[in-house]
Amino acid sequence: MTQIIAIDGPAGSGKSTVARAVATALGWSFLDTGAMYRAVTAEVLRRGIEPADADAVARVAAEASISTLPRVTINGVDVEETIRSEPVNVAVSTVSANPAVRRAMVTRQRAWAAAQPTGTVVEGRDIATVVFPDARLKVYLTASLDERARRRGDEGVSSVTRRDSADRERVASPLRQASDAVVIDTTDLSIDQVVEEIVKWLKTPN
Ligand code: DC
Repeated sequence: MTQIIAIDGPAGSGKSTVARAVATALGWSFLDTGAMYRAVTAEVLRRGIEPADADAVARVAAEASISTLPRVTINGVDVEETIRSEPVNVAVSTVSANPAVRRAMVTRQRAWAAAQPTGTVVEGRDIATVVFPDARLKVYLTASLDERARRRGDEGVSSVTRRDSADRERVASPLRQASDAVVIDTTDLSIDQVVEEIVKWLKTPN
């Protein structure tokens, strides 16, 4: 079975940067699941569908073909830039709280991981709790709100706070720290220090 490192945490905790760097250090692949929810959101907005229209949004998710590397595409359309736009930041909380959307994405995430010839690092909000509860290593990244907002740049502190609350409070697979996750506060750590810590935990016999 594919070895998996699951990395969860709130916006700006360093998940993408760290997951990518851990994958590079180990020669493993990497999956940014937030980009998948963002891609569905971009497609919903492009088609003029109301994000709260649960059935229409679920259909978009069920039928979508998504890839995240080398660039994020949905149904063959490059949305690498669009997925970081303000309208997507606003609508992604509603789209990702839709249980049918989550089912469609989780199915794709599991199939993707199963097809990897190497280990893989997967980051998101529900990776250790729902998608891969048997992951080899579970990591929960945190950082102070100020630092997380700084890392998110243009998004701003109020949008980051709103998205975090929505991610934590939704009914379907909310952001939660898995009971067996290693918790790393990245506020005052460099990327290299966080990567080192994760690789150390991977090599620690459990
Ligand atoms: O990691 P990110 O900020 O790009 O994620 C964007 C949104 O996608 C986030 O606010 C909630 C949602 N998301 C999710 O619900 N589950 C995941 N596994 C990853 C992201």
